[in-house]
Amino acid sequence: TGDNELSSRLMVNNSDKILGKVPTFFQHTVKGWRVNSSLVIMIRKDVLRFLDAERDVSVVKSSLKPGDIIHYVLERRRTLNVSRTLHSLLPDVSPMKNRRFRTCAVVGNSGILLNSGCGREIDDHDFVIRCNLAPLAEFSEDVGLRSDFTTMNPSVIQRAFGGLRNDTDRERFVHRLTALNESVLWIPAFMVKGGEKHVECVNDLILKNKLRVRTAYPSLRLVHAVRGYWLTNKINIKRPSTGLLMYTLATRFCDEIHLYGFWPFPKDSSGSPVKYHYYDKLKYRYFSNASPHRMPLEFKTLKALHSKGALKLTTSKCT
Ligand code: CTP
Repeated sequence: TGDNELSSRLMVNNSDKILGKVPTFFQHTVKGWRVNSSLVIMIRKDVLRFLDAERDVSVVKSSLKPGDIIHYVLERRRTLNVSRTLHSLLPDVSPMKNRRFRTCAVVGNSGILLNSGCGREIDDHDFVIRCNLAPLAEFSEDVGLRSDFTTMNPSVIQRAFGGLRNDTDRERFVHRLTALNESVLWIPAFMVKGGEKHVECVNDLILKNKLRVRTAYPSLRLVHAVRGYWLTNKINIKRPSTGLLMYTLATRFCDEIHLYGFWPFPKDSSGSPVKYHYYDKLKYRYFSNASPHRMPLEFKTLKALHSKGALKLTTSKCT
């Protein structure tokens, strides 16, 4: 019965075509929101049947040795050789072991954050999770500065740091990592082939500059497990976005999860344009078939969870 109960709790109508439209089901306010602690506990238990975020958040040193060959998670026929550098940066124990927080912020990268004034509110959480090394300093009023856990898809190195090919790009990158201080830097290095040179270069820079970030590399089963969890709740997401992965992981550690910067729509509720990212000129890729993600479906799911008090989704200005 548990399964059916939970599915109906999370259920959204998958056949809804909400691509490109401002979702009318979304009330532009979080007033009156209250956490539903029993639902939070139930979701945590349910997620635990698929993955243990404490363990799956990172591969640890003892599970691999230099020279081991790994099959990429999403391209099983292609392989990666575990280098000495990569192995030296695997954590000895999970960076999230025994960590529990009352409140966590998961910050997505939507342009909805611009002019939100949410920076201080975000920084006030006990644990702040951010995605893809998004810049903070220039946007601190709206997004805050604190970062306890930061993801970095290898593709970001090409897109935002010129592949770390020249000194200026490398300096910019080191500067960004230095600002993260002792944050966990979470690098999905084993998903698809193509980013291994970037990961190697990032790892070299971390070692050379003695940066204090704590590197973590998600386990080989994480994405499948997260997909499995949502699938049994009748939500079919082939490639969960980083934001959804972070929410799913956070259910293990956080009593209250507050989401900011989730708005995968080109217009806000009053019809004004919203940038895809708050910090660059990237376009809305999920309208094309080339996009691996289904962010509008994810959003609808998260919105349903918001209404039930499982998480709090903020898409308006913070007061
Ligand atoms: N996000 C959102 N609306 C947007 C942009 C992002 O809801 N307009 C959320 C998504 O959950 C996304 C997260 O914020 O995963 C971080 O943004 P981004 O760095 O663009 O996400 P990725 O999932 O890494 O996208 P990709 O894998 O294509 O790089």
